[in-house]
Amino acid sequence: MTNLILLGPPGVGKGTQAKLLIEKFGIPQISTGDILRAAVKELTPMGVKAKGFMDSGALVPDAVVIGIVEERLAQPDCGKGFILDGFPRTVAQADALDQVLAGMRRGIDHVVSLAVEKAELLRRLTGRRACPKCGAVYHVEFAPPKSADRCDACSGELIQREDDKEATILHRLTVYDEQTAPLIAYYGGKGLLRSVDGLGTVDAIQASILSSIEAPTR
Ligand code: AP5
Repeated sequence: MTNLILLGPPGVGKGTQAKLLIEKFGIPQISTGDILRAAVKELTPMGVKAKGFMDSGALVPDAVVIGIVEERLAQPDCGKGFILDGFPRTVAQADALDQVLAGMRRGIDHVVSLAVEKAELLRRLTGRRACPKCGAVYHVEFAPPKSADRCDACSGELIQREDDKEATILHRLTVYDEQTAPLIAYYGGKGLLRSVDGLGTVDAIQASILSSIEAPTR
């Protein structure tokens, strides 16, 4: 069983790496961002409530995201393990996750912390394009689609996320520093943290993640 958390600032490559880890371990990715965006698209009551927070780059209230993750972890496909991407994002969320997992007699095995410098995060996020139909993610420079503005996998029209405008990105990065970065020390103190350089090719970073989680606990 592999229970993983991918931790790191917006744009560091959590979603990109999670997709490869799904293939490697055959366990699901739980992206609170993806779940919230689906709720916004479907205009569910949760989505309507979350939209304003997300568009401005603020965090959605803890109680909402904790509820989402608790429900998702109880689903049978998480039995073999899971990859949490974008959760937890506050110490309160991390404490709640510990409680939920303790109730299931489970725990976190590794927290992979990815980092790159701010200028690179801005480059990655301003150039990101996403397919709203199938969820594929591209980058205008680093991972361009074969034909401009069309998804290679399903031909859907690619979009720029509402929160990938420069001013909103800068706010998201501040929110990360203030509310999420303290989790590095939180998980370091529990002996779960694996720090991985997020700069390099997608494949090289994947290899570093795999060797970091296969290394003995320090
Ligand atoms: P969420 O969707 O989780 O966004 P995020 O954490 O800000 O992360 P991103 O999806 O922006 O980046 P990523 O690290 O996955 O990078 P990616 O792989 O796409 O959250 C959105 C919002 O939802 C939040 O602001 C908040 O409002 C709400 N929310 C979600 N979870 C919440 C929670 N727990 N609590 C409260 N609120 C919550 O890569 C980025 C780009 O870089 C792509 O274009 C990719 O192609 C490119 N790229 C990736 N790797 C490389 C590489 N090695 N080299 C070059 N380019 C690369």
